[in-house]
Amino acid sequence: MHKRKFFHVTILIIGIFVLFSCEYEKITIDVPDPTIPVSYSGEIQPIWDNYCAGCHAVGATPPDLTAANSYNSLISGNYVDTLAPEQSIIYTCMMPPNGSMSQYSSADKAGLVLNWIKQGAKNN
Ligand code: HEC
Repeated sequence: MHKRKFFHVTILIIGIFVLFSCEYEKITIDVPDPTIPVSYSGEIQPIWDNYCAGCHAVGATPPDLTAANSYNSLISGNYVDTLAPEQSIIYTCMMPPNGSMSQYSSADKAGLVLNWIKQGAKNN
């Protein structure tokens, strides 16, 4: 009787292990490596140009994400929080599934923006 219980518990533990290892891989799939330096002009601005600036243009819905103004409008509008990067509005609004702008974004784009903020939100 005891041996059988032990067997069941072992199977349960292995099952949990397998479940969690799958879950772990799913989460890590499209998050960009935070140690790779992000260039604002080279990688972030193209996201704004391609997916956002159609609506977030000069004189339209803030923040203005056009190339000439995006950096200043993000910093001065407090959309970026370098002390608590995960709470930055520009990141939370892009992050699926709940971000208000996530329909125009994706986890890898939001992850890149988060890495840029974690690296000091430089105008580089
Ligand atoms: C189809 C038009 C449209 C597109 C495309 C769009 N937005 Fe927006 N965005 C809006 C509107 C309208 C608002 C204001 C109302 C709202 O928050 O939903 C807004 C609000 C915002 C805000 C302010 C949210 C807040 O909580 O203060 C941010 C930041 C933002 N958008 C970023 C982005 C980014 C980044 C992209 C591209 C990935 C993007 N938007 C794409 C229309 C758009």
